[in-house]
Amino acid sequence: MTVTTTDLEAYLDANRDARMASYEAFLRIPSISTLPKHAADCRRAAEFVAGELTAMGVEHVEVAETGGHPVAYGDWLHADGAPTVLVYGHYDVQPVDPLDLWDSPPFEPVVKDGRMLARGAADDKGQVHMHLRATEAFLATRGKLPVNLKFVFEGEEESSSTNLDRWLEANKARLAADVAVISDTGFFEGNIPAITLGLRGIMYAQIDVSGSPVDLHSGSYGGSVENPANALARILAALKGPDGRILIPGFYDDVVPLSDADRKAFAALPFDEDKYRSGIGVPALAGEAGFTVLERRGARPTLDVNGIWGGFEGEGAKTIIPAHAHAKVSCRLVAAQDPEKIYGLFRDFVGQVSPPGVEVAVRSLGNGKPSLTPMDHPATKAAARAIEKAFGRAPVYIREGGSIPVCASFESILGLPVVLAGFTNPDDNAHAPNESLVLDNYERGIRAIGHLWDDLATTDLTA
Ligand code: BES
Ligand code: MN
Ligand code: MN
Repeated sequence: MTVTTTDLEAYLDANRDARMASYEAFLRIPSISTLPKHAADCRRAAEFVAGELTAMGVEHVEVAETGGHPVAYGDWLHADGAPTVLVYGHYDVQPVDPLDLWDSPPFEPVVKDGRMLARGAADDKGQVHMHLRATEAFLATRGKLPVNLKFVFEGEEESSSTNLDRWLEANKARLAADVAVISDTGFFEGNIPAITLGLRGIMYAQIDVSGSPVDLHSGSYGGSVENPANALARILAALKGPDGRILIPGFYDDVVPLSDADRKAFAALPFDEDKYRSGIGVPALAGEAGFTVLERRGARPTLDVNGIWGGFEGEGAKTIIPAHAHAKVSCRLVAAQDPEKIYGLFRDFVGQVSPPGVEVAVRSLGNGKPSLTPMDHPATKAAARAIEKAFGRAPVYIREGGSIPVCASFESILGLPVVLAGFTNPDDNAHAPNESLVLDNYERGIRAIGHLWDDLATTDLTA
């Protein structure tokens, strides 16, 4: 008997209301991983996922301790002879400020204009939920899955997955698989189906500049002491040239240059620069000289100030020399840059360009390695077929500017090839106010996951 996905289709059609109710219940949990006051909410989100896995018949379900926010783990391993897939997603979300820019409260999901609107609707609870629902549809209709699945849903992705590597190391044997499938990326501009082949890494640091222990009268003391805010501005200005090149010595040493084939692939994507620019709302695009917008965003490293503060920030004028000034700075990194090495170069260079008369401290706020996956892996091709089946269009292959630190860990710690099959739309406002997910992407995403498991059951992953 050939099983077709019409069985899943009928089940999914009949269960739409229950599915939406469960999605909304998941979105109501404010699992913001970076804010300590939400630790209990993160655990509640892990328990929610574990509860769903148990209810649908997934086995060995556990809320596993990592030292940080827990992992929701479960597996189903009765597809003898079929491949084993490790499915990864994250149940934690980004903070929600500025709250006043949301049309409705971030943890009170509403359906509006064909979208689910809430923090995490797209990144990444929506995609975790797609996997839950696809698995449920198989187990409810067929009583089994076409492949063996191991689920790892973590709660610290939005804060650099600090404790996950140690947990992966400690659970190496139990996590053995043939391939990892990650649904935490999205489609190309214009909601064009896509498979992501590259993700950037990240080096995140804070610079603290201090002078006098207290603010000083800028008339009495101005001219005789260094000003920490001026000093910080000078340090930041030294990091990057007007042509967009990062001036830290050695910064580009390990960057894998773009091949002609890479450049052709970027150039072939249907990209409308002006639409992209006006969609962001900036007067002009900017970046490193000699590279196109898609190359700059997907395959070149960056350095950005993410936050800067110090001195008088109230209304009106206050004449002081501030006691201290601060900046958060991060670099997006590409293959084969090493975040720890880049942090060392950054720290040393900041030390060199710091003016006398102030104390400058640099500390690390997190690291993530870049990753690149091959387009011709049999699992990538299977994902492309599954996406085409569900969305009616073959995916394009893209490189994303964002980071998923665990990708590199799956490769280095577990030896797994990674397929990045995600279903969000670039205009979903991930990390921003009014995050949403197009419900058509959500529904078709569930079907695509179903097609992928059916396809992988008969795919030779060693080919
Ligand atoms: N899902 C994103 C990664 C992503 C971003 C994929 C854009 C595709 C397009 C992930 O949740 C994320 O936001 N990662 C952080 C990692 C950081 C906190 C270490 C990021 O990229 O800022
Ligand atoms: Mn994500
Ligand atoms: Mn994110």
